Amino acid sequence: MKPFDFLVLGSGIAGLSFALKAAPRGRVAIVTKKDRAESNTNYAQGGIASVTSKEDSFDLHVRDTLAAGAGLCKEAVVRTIVEEGPARIRELMELGMKFSEREAPGGDGGRELDLGREGGHSKRRILHAKDVTGREIERALLNAISRQPNIQIFENHLAIDLITSRKIGQKNGNRCLGAYVFDKKNGRVWAFTAPVTLLATGGCGKVYLYTTNPDIATGDGVAMAYRAGATLANMEFVQFHPTCLYHPRAKSFLISEAVRGEGGVLKTIEGREFMDAYHPLKSLAPRDVVARAIDSEMKRSGAEHVWLDITHKPARFIMDRFPNIYQTCLRYGLDITKEPVPIVPAAHYQCGGVVTTVDGQTDVAGLFAVGEVACTGLHGANRLASNSLLEALVCAHRAAGTILSHPEPKIEATIPLWQPGQAANVDELVVVSHNWDEIRRCMWDYVGIVRTNKRLARAAKRIANLQEEIQEYYWNFIVTADLLELRNIATVAEVIVRCAQQRPESRGLHYNLDYPDARPEWAQRDTVLRK
Ligand code: FAD
Ligand code: SIN
Repeated sequence: MKPFDFLVLGSGIAGLSFALKAAPRGRVAIVTKKDRAESNTNYAQGGIASVTSKEDSFDLHVRDTLAAGAGLCKEAVVRTIVEEGPARIRELMELGMKFSEREAPGGDGGRELDLGREGGHSKRRILHAKDVTGREIERALLNAISRQPNIQIFENHLAIDLITSRKIGQKNGNRCLGAYVFDKKNGRVWAFTAPVTLLATGGCGKVYLYTTNPDIATGDGVAMAYRAGATLANMEFVQFHPTCLYHPRAKSFLISEAVRGEGGVLKTIEGREFMDAYHPLKSLAPRDVVARAIDSEMKRSGAEHVWLDITHKPARFIMDRFPNIYQTCLRYGLDITKEPVPIVPAAHYQCGGVVTTVDGQTDVAGLFAVGEVACTGLHGANRLASNSLLEALVCAHRAAGTILSHPEPKIEATIPLWQPGQAANVDELVVVSHNWDEIRRCMWDYVGIVRTNKRLARAAKRIANLQEEIQEYYWNFIVTADLLELRNIATVAEVIVRCAQQRPESRGLHYNLDYPDARPEWAQRDTVLRK
């Protein structure tokens, strides 16, 4: 048993920011399934959207967010997050975060923040650290955490399931008491207990065959919360980033939207610009529009990719503004200052998730969720670029504030120890990897950028069959990280399909050929699931 005051699952921007705020009030455990910096956060390129310039305003940022969200955002939540952004950004800078700067106008040698532009934003408002913003955020937060004696980080520890009062047989209500956690290095399962558990486990890109996300993004938080009885919403809204590098050796490398923000243009395989036929903002249209346009151009031409071309910009500017993208492409034999980059859309961001208030509260007592795992109502049917890091910062702060002003009761219950399975049949592990591939391919083929009722029904059937098989393995065999994650991607796939089947319209990121239009009566209506 490992008792703490706060249990934080995940060490991306959401988990780390929360831990720093909670630490003065108690002992914090951060449980994270790989190295401490490994997270979606670490790969964020474009930056953090926030109003910091005189030419910008909260109203404009709110308006852009609502427009991208296609009628499904919660306006009060949007306003809170937008308006509290600048204060949280200042805090991050005080912790040591270094954003890129440029020379201020006036010629007196003064400096100001260099603001980037991305799709759907009417103003330049993206604070960034060149094209490695996430790496810099993780560095700054982890550095601050290393000075906090109250915080203990458990690397290579994978949370298996939340421990709830209902699961251990208590009758009244449902309260989260902690989590069972698998120590990957020595194969043991520990019960971590705490009056407050924060899910900060990020998204689920790995549910799809092609994704910009690193391997950690297996939707564990959504799956665990669902099994624990929390309400989920809007999981059909999976954001496909339009520009993932298309190269046989590149597993999942993003070419930031900021490249289009600085003038990069999308072109067909024949080298023709095509976005003006789809949206007045052309290559900088909201992501759902751009991803569908690329998908449609690829289907029309039969090509395996389209091009992103920024060669008309000075080479020095490209190398200075996008050093990581430039160097990475160069390693794959592509010089982006001289030739266009082959790109394809890939699964990128989960707009739905565990339903929370803007303070991170779920409907399971003692369980909070912040960051990509949560569905606060900020993103609606389509997230505006660079709004997710902002959401994580603001909501982590608010969650900590709520918890500290209304402490959760101490745990009285006796927590049962984890019951391990007995069999370990190594030969059968091949089935686990086969099932991984099958789910990811099925989701890509049937539940991708363009959906139909028939494809969704087919996906539902296949996933149900796979789940039956997985359930058998889960209970009979000694747990492995691959098996636990497989169970989670299967659950998340099921949830995405069920939400998609609930929505009889096309809106934002959910496009169904059988209902090609949005239906007014479905605006402001979430698709909701509870076990
Ligand atoms: P993550 O940063 O993903 O952290 C999740 C953590 O949980 C990880 O530490 C992981 O190991 C851990 N974890 C997961 N499951 C378990 C488990 N079962 N047990 C223990 N630990 C677990 N957004 C922007 O706003 N601006 C950008 O420029 C931007 N660029 C992006 C570029 C890329 C390539 C990607 C993939 C995403 C980008 N996003 C961007 C999205 C943004 O990075 C994420 O939404 C955000 O970082 C999520 O933060 P988080 O703390 O919620 O989760
Ligand atoms: C990017 O840099 O294109 C990613 C931005 C985001 O996902 O918000």
